[in-house]
Amino acid sequence: MEAFSQLVQRAVQAFAGARTPAELEDAKAIFLGKSGELTAQMKQLASLPVDEKKARGAEINAAKQQVEAALAARRQALADAELALQLRAESLDVTLPGRRRGSGGLHPITRAMERIEAIFGSMGFEVADGPEIETDWFNFTALNTPADHPARSMHDTFYVEGGQVLRTHTSPMQIRHAVRHVKAHRAALDAGLPMPEIRVIAPGRTYRVDSDATHSPMFHQVEGLWVGENISFKDLKSVYVSFIRAFFETSNLQIRFRPSYFPFTEPSAEIDMMFGSGPLKGRWLEVSGSGQVHPQVIRNMGLDPERYIGFAFGSGIDRLAMLRYGVSDLRLFFDGDLRFLSQFK
Ligand code: DAH
Repeated sequence: MEAFSQLVQRAVQAFAGARTPAELEDAKAIFLGKSGELTAQMKQLASLPVDEKKARGAEINAAKQQVEAALAARRQALADAELALQLRAESLDVTLPGRRRGSGGLHPITRAMERIEAIFGSMGFEVADGPEIETDWFNFTALNTPADHPARSMHDTFYVEGGQVLRTHTSPMQIRHAVRHVKAHRAALDAGLPMPEIRVIAPGRTYRVDSDATHSPMFHQVEGLWVGENISFKDLKSVYVSFIRAFFETSNLQIRFRPSYFPFTEPSAEIDMMFGSGPLKGRWLEVSGSGQVHPQVIRNMGLDPERYIGFAFGSGIDRLAMLRYGVSDLRLFFDGDLRFLSQFK
């Protein structure tokens, strides 16, 4: 009869030959299963004489323990191998450079706006903000813009449902802000007391049906308004010269007023500027519309045009930013290309 040591030997070999946990379980069944070899040996014990039973039983138990130990060792080895395989498959190369989180920066238009706000702030101007979806009244009618004015044409203006428009300029903020201001000082006005002057700028987005290298359907303007009892064109000129020289950080710069027409100013003027040096030296560049606020507009603000007078201007921020940063194509501002935008960080 085969010695138990040989049986153990066969079991160890069978376990070693199992390459998967399933194969190992099959091998286990051959030795330890219900009809396995060791189980059969146990069953045979019953037929042995009492004196042999004890010694034989001890031998079987010893063999069983060895087989179970071998089984456990093989199970562990297979599990280790599987884990090692998995780790290799999911391995990370920790020497690869990480993905950087880019640092953001302010958009050049935002930077230009902040400059404009700071400069006018230093001259005592408030900053006002208002809706981009505007009513016909604020965008056109209150600004003395007649129904047959070309600015009202479908070709120029984005109309939205309900007869509202995407504001075509920041000028509606003149009315909105003045009305608020007048309301806040109603009591003084009714008592015939002087009203604190209106001195405000309103930068923001504006919209027109227009698109090429120097026009975008969405663009930016800054409106300026100064209304009081004794405000003249010379104040407009000094304010605008101070602003434009501060904005471009040079006093080597001239401005001129060129007669023009706007429904909400009378007289009206375009403001042109000219650098005294640099690549644009000697070329007049149009930077703003302006004028003395029309009496009808003063009336629409809730003020008496016999007593109150003022000036307004509306400048293109994108144009100013292009000149300041040396950008030749307006569309670069709105393409969202990081190669361009990251230069302004
Ligand atoms: N709103 C005008 C435009 O978009 C610009 C303008 C002209 C604004 C004269 C003014 C002004 O405040 O007085 O073309």
